[in-house]
Amino acid sequence: MPVQMPARTAVVAANWKMHKTVGETAAFLDRFLGGIEQLEGVELFICPPFPSLPAAVERCRRSRVLVAAQNMHAEPQGAFTGEVSAPMLTELGVDGVILGHSERRAMFAERDEDLAHKVPAALGAALTPILCIGETESERDADQTQAVLARQISTDLAEVADERLSEVVIAYEPVWAIGTGRNATPEQAAEAIAFIRSQLAARDERAGEAIRIIYGGSVKPGNAAELLSPETIDGALVGGASLQPGDFKEIALAAADSSASPAESSGSGAGGAAGSRS
Ligand code: 13P
Repeated sequence: MPVQMPARTAVVAANWKMHKTVGETAAFLDRFLGGIEQLEGVELFICPPFPSLPAAVERCRRSRVLVAAQNMHAEPQGAFTGEVSAPMLTELGVDGVILGHSERRAMFAERDEDLAHKVPAALGAALTPILCIGETESERDADQTQAVLARQISTDLAEVADERLSEVVIAYEPVWAIGTGRNATPEQAAEAIAFIRSQLAARDERAGEAIRIIYGGSVKPGNAAELLSPETIDGALVGGASLQPGDFKEIALAAADSSASPAESSGSGAGGAAGSRS
């Protein structure tokens, strides 16, 4: 029997990395939250550094903007100096958490085995995990892209129950495109995302259809519309260009526009009645 295709809501997330103090976070949100009516239909996440989370939650409370952390430990508490746990984030009112970013994998030795514990811990605490996966340039050159993605998906999501898989957001972030100004082409991104979706569908057909898979790596206002045009790319995880409210809004508008149906988006350069992708 054919599985009915669930609608997928576009997601656009701002990964601020180690940028913005509490004061700068408040100033960004005061500007950004002022003009987001056109972003109906796009799920928006702001992901500031830990100290700014309470200010972000407070400012976003009466908006549709969600707040996510950039990392967490898998254990709820313990002797893990410098770490933060899921219950600490949920107590603050945080909605999600970026996990497995390539900077954490490369600079802080985060392993797929760690993520196998972190992803279910986030889901168990009702935090939306934004799981980052992607190949390095040398892995791509060695034709290892699919092998790397397959390994990351199978290990990082191994302990997630099939019926909860679709609550994860996967960010395909080719490492060579992060912070380099050299974005993947829409075709490269769509090809990798199709592969990721096929891997998940092989495990659970319904989850394979429903899970949101977004692209990250040098997304800018100037390339967002083209990068997000393939139907299969459900949004973006944005680094550098998310630090300016105007730039981030332009990228989110591109996602809103490309997620609207053709009838809704025709003639509208600014999203208008954006809906769910299906
Ligand atoms: P840039 O958008 O700065 O390339 O960073 C992408 C990224 O790492 C988002 O998580």
